[in-house]
This record gives sequence, structure tokens and C-alpha cells, in this order.
Amino acid sequence: MIAQAAYQVRNHSWRQIFDQPEELSAQAGQILRRNDMEGWTRAAPSLYPHQWSWDSAFIAIGLAHLDTRRAAQELRTLFAHQWMTGRVPHIVFNPKAPPESYFPGADHWACAASSPDAPPAPPYTSCLCQPPVHAIAALRIWEVAGREDEKAFAEATDFLREIYPRLFAWHRYLATLRDPERSGLVTIYHPWASGADNSPRWDGALAAVEVGEMPTYPRYDLDHVDDPSERPASAEYDRYLWLVKLIKRADCDERAIYRSHPFLVKDVLFSAILVAANDALLEIAKVVEAPDEERELVDGWAGRGRKGLEKCWDDKLNLCLDYDLRADRSLRVRTVAGFAPLIAGQQSPERLAALLGELASPAFAGHAELRWPVPPSTSPEEPGFHPRSYWRGPVWPVANWLLWWSLIRSGEPERAAQIRRVSLDQIAEGGFAEYFEPFSGKPLGSKEQSWTAAVVLDWLADDVRSAEIEAA
Ligand code: DGY
Repeated sequence: MIAQAAYQVRNHSWRQIFDQPEELSAQAGQILRRNDMEGWTRAAPSLYPHQWSWDSAFIAIGLAHLDTRRAAQELRTLFAHQWMTGRVPHIVFNPKAPPESYFPGADHWACAASSPDAPPAPPYTSCLCQPPVHAIAALRIWEVAGREDEKAFAEATDFLREIYPRLFAWHRYLATLRDPERSGLVTIYHPWASGADNSPRWDGALAAVEVGEMPTYPRYDLDHVDDPSERPASAEYDRYLWLVKLIKRADCDERAIYRSHPFLVKDVLFSAILVAANDALLEIAKVVEAPDEERELVDGWAGRGRKGLEKCWDDKLNLCLDYDLRADRSLRVRTVAGFAPLIAGQQSPERLAALLGELASPAFAGHAELRWPVPPSTSPEEPGFHPRSYWRGPVWPVANWLLWWSLIRSGEPERAAQIRRVSLDQIAEGGFAEYFEPFSGKPLGSKEQSWTAAVVLDWLADDVRSAEIEAA
């Protein structure tokens, strides 16, 4: 049972918000329209003026409720820049973005275009990648289109036929080149690939990275936030940039990176998302009648992923832990990534009970001083916790969406409903921010973050539909 105390919210007025789902949903739609670049969506108006990979997948999930064709286009545009190896780049650079808006920008990554596996450039891409939410998004678009009309459904089915081979190549890349040990766990070689850049999950592995000679570099990101403490610190950025330099030196080639790179980590959240995405890909494979051998492979990747995550389980912490391949040790830090088995799904009843207990405990959503009872990205009990600093503590609506979605998949609709309701309250109070200070509820980072708007659209889709039916 989740402790009741976990959900007693201070100064809490969610009823008002739930009386007006259409209004919040309309505001979310306006943000996506403002960030729309015709065929793709900026992650945020000024802080992130390019197309980011996992942002786009979440954005497609939200867009599906506005226009399933436009949602499909979001993924189509991203996958147009897929590498020959199957890699989906973490950033596709917008050639029209102001030159001093983002660093490291296209010119810094232009080297990636010289790799024989890179897509034609411009537009340039980075050579990192991010968690593979895309198959989940593609399936969601198809499901939503199925509730529209026959034409939309037929088009969405055609879209699945078109995107399936690309999704299959993407997952094969992750299951092979990014997991040469066949452990079921994806190796990342840069914290940016985790999507949780400055999480204390990476502190131990980053501490071992010795930064060499580097030119000075600009921090344009700091110009777009109220306070520099909301973004990763300069010691972290030095390491990020140094790792980029080493990746460039290795010609963005996985095998070379594996041989020489100082930062190689098995990322449990990335791996769990891949498991869930493989489940979605299996559904897609059925719809498009993909060959049996491919379906067996996808099923095998999902099974291997679940086994790999099982090995990373820590009985004392009741969480799953990342693994530092260079130091040959687990990274013992309590963060939302530890709920990876919940996201992968199909866990045993005992494991599920342990995860739910941990989620509701004072280490996460049950912490007595939280403004809203949703899990901070890092447990406030961790020494590396910082309430304002990006993934070191703030609450991320997109992480709550993943937990909500996973709780539904795990047969826990009431707990899912609770996370959804509280997350919507938080956004109704603080706006469509990238992340929130957990104790004050203050919005932080970018204030018009596309994926925050997207998850709101997904959360409110059923309420909005019921209100429309009632009004008709
Ligand atoms: C950033 O610039 O903050 C991104 O997370 C890197 O992809």
C-alpha cells in the first residue's frame, strides 16, 4: 500500500484544475504550435532550438491528440537523419537557429558528417543518441488514429509500415553495437545520451575522467535560465566537452570508442525504455506483418533486457543500479532511474511491491517536505541531491509520465491516476516548465518545454474527449 501521508498535499487545490481540463490542454496545444518548425518541433523556444531525439518521441505522443498526421511527421523527420548503423542521433541541428543560441552546435559536431555511416548533411547531427521512446510513440499515434476515423487509421497503419524497418534498425543497433557483451543493457559513452545529463548517477564514473587541454567554450545555455544553478556546473561541462572531443577523435565509431573511452556505463533507464519499446515494436511488427525472424529477435531483445535489469537489482536500496564498465562496479545512487524494472514491465509481484514501496517512501514521493508528492529526480536523501540543479533533484513531468504509463502497464491504475493528477496540478500551478523545484514547486529551466506540453495533452486526452462528447 502506498502510504496515505505520501499524498497529503500542502495547500492543494486540484479540484479546480480538474474542472477545466480543456483549458490546460488548450494551453499545451498552444505551446506545441509555438515551438512547431513545420515538420518537427523545437524542444524549447530558446534553450533548445533544435530537434532532440527523445523529446521528439514524447512530442509525437502529445501531437497525436491534436493531429495524428503531424505526429507521424515528427518521427518521420527525425528518422530521416538516422545513421546507416541504425543510430538515431540525439540532436538534428536546425540550420536556421541563431548561431549563438546553443553550444555545442552543428559546427562543433560537423565532424560526425565525415563518418561513412552518417546521413547526408546539412542538416548536421550529433553522433550520440538518447533513450528510444520512438516505438512507443509510433504505436500511440496508431492507437489514437484508431479512435478517429477510417482514413486516419489507414494512414497511421501506412505510417507504421513505413517506420517499422527504421525502428527495427534502431533497436538492432542498440542491441548489438551498443551492447557487445549481449548483456541486455545499453552502454552509454556520454551522460548526454542518458537524457539525465548531470544526474549524480554519473558522478562516480565522471570523476575518473581526466580532462586534457581544451579551448575555452561558451555556455549559451546559462543565458536562457533564471539562475545558473539550474543547469549543470562547469566542472561537469568540462567533462561533457572533453568526452565529445574523445568521441570525435574516435570518428564516432562504436568499436573504437569501446576500446579507448574513459566513460562507458550500462544505463538502466535507457535499457528499461528499450525493453518497453521492444514490447511496442513487437505490437507494431504484428500490425505490419513483419517476418517471424524479426519478431523473434525483438522478443529476444526484450527478454534479454529484462534479465539484464534483474542483475542490476539492489535488494538493500530496492532499486536498479547503473553499472560502470570501466571501474567494474555498480553506481550506488538513488534516483528515478532506479525504477527501471517498473518501466520495463512484467516484473514479479514481489519486485513490483518493492518498487511501489520505494516510490512512496520518504526517499522519493513520500518525502514530507515535497510541494507535490511526485518523485524528485534524485532522492533528497542522497548526498548528490540538489533541489534546483537539472537532474540532481528537480521533478520532471516527463519522468512522471513514464512512471504513470508504466504503472498502468503494471496493473496499478489507481497509483497511476495519482501521479497523473498530482503532475497536472503541479503544471497547472507552475506552468509548462522543463522541471520543478521539489519543495517549493517553482518552475525551473525552460518555461515552455515542448515535452511537458506533450505529456499534458496525453494525460488530458480522455477528459477532453469526454467533455466534448458531453457538450455535443
Ligand atoms: C543539453 O544541452 O542540455 C542537452 O541535454 C544535451 O543534449
